[in-house]
Amino acid sequence: MSTDSKTKKPLNSGKSYYVKSFGCQMNVYDGERMGEMLSDQGMQASETREDADLVVLNTCHIREKAAEKVYSDIGRLRRKDGSTPMIAVAGCVAQAEGQEISRRAPSVDIVVGPQAYHRLPELINTAKTGHKAIDTDMPPNSKFDVLPSRPKQPRPSAFLTVQEGCDKFCTYCVVPYTRGAEISRPWGEIVDEAKALVDGGVKEITLLGQNVNAWESEDDKGHRQGLDGLIRALDRIDGLERIRYTTSHPNDMTQGLIDAHSNVASLMPYLHLPVQSGSNRILKAMNRSHTVESYLEILERVRTARPDIALSGDFIVGFPGESDEDFEATLEVVRAANYSQAFSFKYSPRPGTPAADMDTQIAPEIMDERLQRLQALLNEQQFDFNRKLDGKNTRILLERQGKKDGQLVGKTPWLTSVHVIAPDAKIGDMLDVHIDSAGPNSLQGSLIRRKAA
Ligand code: 5AD
Ligand code: SF4
Repeated sequence: MSTDSKTKKPLNSGKSYYVKSFGCQMNVYDGERMGEMLSDQGMQASETREDADLVVLNTCHIREKAAEKVYSDIGRLRRKDGSTPMIAVAGCVAQAEGQEISRRAPSVDIVVGPQAYHRLPELINTAKTGHKAIDTDMPPNSKFDVLPSRPKQPRPSAFLTVQEGCDKFCTYCVVPYTRGAEISRPWGEIVDEAKALVDGGVKEITLLGQNVNAWESEDDKGHRQGLDGLIRALDRIDGLERIRYTTSHPNDMTQGLIDAHSNVASLMPYLHLPVQSGSNRILKAMNRSHTVESYLEILERVRTARPDIALSGDFIVGFPGESDEDFEATLEVVRAANYSQAFSFKYSPRPGTPAADMDTQIAPEIMDERLQRLQALLNEQQFDFNRKLDGKNTRILLERQGKKDGQLVGKTPWLTSVHVIAPDAKIGDMLDVHIDSAGPNSLQGSLIRRKAA
């Protein structure tokens, strides 16, 4: 931890907080845990950032736009009377830029990395004395040993981080630098957290990790277990109806995990398995350590285990040196895989990564055009997937209110959103619905009324 006494200024006393998370689901999880910890310390969650004494910006560094957003957000925290709340920058921008943030944005009081946010209360105390508080350590003692146990949850679907960091070093990616080396949380800790979430009203848990399927640990009997073993153990928790996991790396997709998709009832038929590019030449330059063929072969085995599985992925267009031919190969792999939804991005050079120094950077106009073509194809596939559910019956978990009176929005096992009018139902209910129509992004359903016995 370091402090800088040159930039003293009076700060609000810090009784209410507002946490805003950007980027991936792991950041959402971290943001929730920071909030739970601050509440545990006696602070109140504020509805808006305008009312909060402390604003935590939990940032993402994965692409340029995400990082730039932080600085414009910091600027917007200045209030009409010229004052600012206490400002903490957390997450991967904090980790990557550290001290630089205080230089660029002097109104920032606290900078805290993703492995150090359990020290936020101490950092707040330092900031209250008018010192800058910066902590981007990756301490050997885990934050999970210190964070309070999970309280009652506001939503029926919760995230649970089981694995952090990455050892894969894809040449475009900052994650190995901002999140550190791969670590798996211990078995017992995860099972306890899952039980606490279910006791707090959660029905669906999404296990999170940068490479979640690389998770491994000993179980309570001292046996080595992979993610499939953990999923089977969580499946035995009463009241936990649905289990999901994300994000997976093709090289860690074990047969055990694939088999779990055919015989673990609560494991949902959805797999997010990024391929990034359809060209073996580009995959090699990306240091992905799998090929298009090995990726498609995994999908085949997954579909054999669970024929109705919905597939999702991530794509980068315009990686340095990507030719028209390489890009056509990406469209080809999309056609072969047939996704229910997918995420696609223009390549963004990240300082300190090997790809940022490659001298074959692609022109922005070419990236724009490629992204448009890729997204058109992915949108088409998503709409097709949704249309196949039209006319079918399925079960949804209600997650939020809809815009219309009596309308609720829930998710199918395949993670598609369904809008349904169900005035007597409430968030957290599992409902049997008939799908009446399909749109490009969501479905309309109606309640299936059970006959009275
Ligand atoms: N540029 C563009 N996209 C990136 N991703 C990761 N790093 C970059 C980058 N430098 C994408 C990958 C990854 C997802 C989380 O973000 O597709 O799977
Ligand atoms: Fe980044 Fe590659 Fe690790 Fe995913 S596997 S977090 S893309 S380095």
